[in-house]
Amino acid sequence: MTYSSTRFLVFFTIFLVSLQCGCGALFKRKLVYVQMTNRVPGQVNLTIHCKSGDEDLGSHVLAPEGHWGFQFRPNFWKTTLYFCSFQWPGNFHYFDIYKKAKSRPGCHDCFWNVGPDGPCLFDYDTKGYGYCEPWNPPVPSLTGKPVL
Ligand SMILES: *[C@@H]1O[C@H](CO)[C@@H](O)[C@H](O)[C@H]1NC(C)=O
Repeated sequence: MTYSSTRFLVFFTIFLVSLQCGCGALFKRKLVYVQMTNRVPGQVNLTIHCKSGDEDLGSHVLAPEGHWGFQFRPNFWKTTLYFCSFQWPGNFHYFDIYKKAKSRPGCHDCFWNVGPDGPCLFDYDTKGYGYCEPWNPPVPSLTGKPVL
């Protein structure tokens, strides 16, 4: 191997490693915080269960007006996706609580109010929860039971 291709390999390896571990200061990505507040009317508990491709954040019961949040570092390619199930009596929904979407206002501290029709995101420009999205379309399941 020539000197320059060896050097290229060394630098390319360092580059790849720093992408994977998130420890290279050069490629340090900002932490994102996502919080959800139970705004379902009727004084019901809201059970939230969030996952990403490689992480299961477990199940959390939110009392009326209660909130829960989590923190993570998005991957270098900005393809990080977290989805959650939202459950209260008579209801079961999924929602992609964090994903890359042009239509969504960007946020590093993402505050969602979870209501019966879907979550609404706090908009730092208008200082209100004006940006709302519907639940994900229902996932067909063979057993008729929710998949989680
Ligand atoms: C909500 O959850 C709390 C704690 O788990 C429980 O004590 C309470 O009875 C629940 N309330 C309802 C309406 O299910």
